[in-house]
Formats: sequence, C-alpha cells, structure tokens
Amino acid sequence: MKRAWKNRVVVVTGASSGIGRATSLALAKKGAHVVLAARREEPLEDLARECEALGVRAIVVPTDVSDSAAVQRLAEEARAAFGHFDAWINNAGVYLMGRLEETPDDAFRQVMETNFFGTVSGARAAVAQFRRQGFGTLVNVSSTFGTVAAPYVSAYVASKHAVRGFSSSIRQELLDTGISVCTVLPAAIDTPLWQHTANYTGWRIRPVEPVYTPERVARAILRVLRSPRHEVFVGPAARSFAAMHGLLPRTFERTMHGVTEAQHFEKERQGHTSGTLFRPMAEGTGTSGGYHAAGKQWLRRLLLAGGVATAALSLRRRETRGLRARVAQVLGA
Ligand SMILES: NC(=O)c1ccc[n+]([C@@H]2O[C@H](COP(=O)([O-])OP(=O)(O)OC[C@H]3O[C@@H](n4cnc5c(N)ncnc54)[C@H](OP(=O)(O)O)[C@@H]3O)[C@@H](O)[C@H]2O)c1
Repeated sequence: MKRAWKNRVVVVTGASSGIGRATSLALAKKGAHVVLAARREEPLEDLARECEALGVRAIVVPTDVSDSAAVQRLAEEARAAFGHFDAWINNAGVYLMGRLEETPDDAFRQVMETNFFGTVSGARAAVAQFRRQGFGTLVNVSSTFGTVAAPYVSAYVASKHAVRGFSSSIRQELLDTGISVCTVLPAAIDTPLWQHTANYTGWRIRPVEPVYTPERVARAILRVLRSPRHEVFVGPAARSFAAMHGLLPRTFERTMHGVTEAQHFEKERQGHTSGTLFRPMAEGTGTSGGYHAAGKQWLRRLLLAGGVATAALSLRRRETRGLRARVAQVLGA
C-alpha cells in the first residue's frame, strides 16, 4: 500500500554521516519526523537542526547498535517522543579491509556485532512495536556484498550476507501481519565509510568504481518505505554483479579478484587501524565522502565496464575451451 509521508515517524540508525544522513534529510523534506541514532552526538544534533528547519520534529538518541540494551532504549525513546513509529531503518555499519590472517579476531567479531547483531537488535525492537501497532516497515541495509564477495573483506561480506539471509527469514515469519521487511543492497557509495574503514592491508584504500551517490540510496529507501519490496539493488553495478556471479561464478571471482587488486588500493602505505569499529571518529560527518567526481564518472564507468566485459569474455572463452576439451576427452574424440 502506498503511504503518505506527513507525520510518519521513522527511526534511522547510522544517521551521523553518509547514507543515514542523506536518508534522514530526504525523509524530513517529505514531511516525516525522524529519530536519529548513531554514537556521535554532535553531528546528530546538527542534522536534527537541519531537519527541524524543514518543518518536522527530529530527536537525537545517541546509540551504539552493538549494545542491544542501548537499541531497546532507542525504541523506548522514539515511542516516548511520538507514541509510535512507522518505520525503522537498520543502516548503521562499519567496513573492514584486511587479509583473514592479518585481521585481529576482535576486529572481525566487531564487524559482526555492529553490522549483523546491530541489525538483529534493531529488528527485535522494531518488530515488537510493529506487532503492538499492527503495522510497520523494517528496512535493513545490506550491500552488493550481501550477494557476492570480494577479497580482503571477508568479515564485511559475512556480515552483509547474514543481514540478507536474516531479513529473508523474518520476512517469511511476518508474512500477512501488516509488517514489511525490505533489504536494500547498494553498490559502492560515495560516503565517509572509506575514511572510517578499519584497514589491516598496509595500504590506503579507495572505493572501487563505479561509485554512486548516497542520495541515490536515500531515494531507494524512500521508495521501499512507500511501496515495500523484498529486495532492492542500488546502482546498476549491484544487480549486474549478482547476475554475473549467478551465471559464471568462477569467472566472476577471478574478475573480482583482479578488479580489487587493481582498483581498491592507493599507492600510499598506511599503518593498521581499527577505524570506527570500537569508537567513532570525529572526521567524516558529511553525506558525501568526496569520491563522486561526477564529471569523470561516465568515463570511469565506461572504462570499467569495458575492462570487466573483456576480462569476463576472455575467461569465459578459457572456461568454455576447458569444458570442450573435457567433453572431447570423455567422448574419446
Ligand atoms: N558506502 C558504501 O559503499 C556502502 C555500500 C553498500 C552498503 N553500505 C552500507 O550503508 C550503511 C551506511 O554506511 P555509509 O556508507 O553511510 O558509511 P558511514 O558514513 O561511515 O556511516 C556509517 C554510520 O554508521 C554509524 N555507526 C557505525 N558503527 C556504529 C555503532 N556501533 N553504533 C551506532 N552507529 C554506528 C556511524 O556513526 P557513528 O560513528 O557516529 O556511530 C555512521 O553514522 C552501512 O551499513 C554500510 O555497510 C555502504
């Protein structure tokens, strides 16, 4: 059912930067009241003022989503302020790059605590309220890496696959209850995430092209809030990666390995850092991370698409040649 925005109440986790910030602003522009959560209070207060200037109510609830009691308090504060909430967006997340052997165990686990268990806690808090009201929409932000994988991001990939599977399971539990569960799967997005990343690779990193804007994700989230959908990819690359992996899994993995090695690293060394895993950073409170050089995007996308297609075709030829040889051997030709 299409739902109007005015006076709707939406809880947004991870609102202090990037996609969460863009989504909160987009909601406020439509007339929805927002409950803003993340660990950093100051950027949330700034955002609340921006939202209120648009004519809505905005409350700030500093919350660490890896603490389930804190997430419960977030739901209670939202209910205390508005009496109910219509939607809950589990968006808070952290990124980690590093080989498995070089990634400390506590860092790997903290990615799961934030990205996966933070989503579980958010879902528990939201669904309890939605059951009482008899309606509500839960949006879980996964990633392209909820459907495919790349090297050096095993913790992140595991957490986002977990979010996607978890969402599909509770969606089935909640069938015909008036409660919707939507999974959003963005490709690489230009946000401060890349500054916030825990990095155990020894090199500075940058997002792999093509990179899309956080406003594009915000628009997709608003669309599923209006007309709930099970899963929504954001950015054509997200859908093509999933399709290519489904069609040619081995070729996809080789291509992804090559693209990651060639594109994900700067030529500058960087010491190991836990980024924002255990505590937030003062830096990176904007919506954009400064990676979306719009003017050059089309050229980069064209080059990348050409490169990926050429690599895929040549690998496919090799796979097919191998397959033909094996068939010939079996047939004794
Ligand atoms: N950027 C991309 O390429 C991309 C692609 C696909 C999916 N995503 C997903 O999109 C979501 C938002 O990321 P983003 O790109 O907007 O990056 P971002 O700018 O770094 O935003 C991450 C948000 O999560 C919050 N956060 C991190 N740990 C938290 C914790 N323990 N408790 C509460 N809040 C926490 C951060 O705030 P505090 O530090 O103030 O707590 C921040 O508001 C994440 O789930 C990410 O995995 C991003």
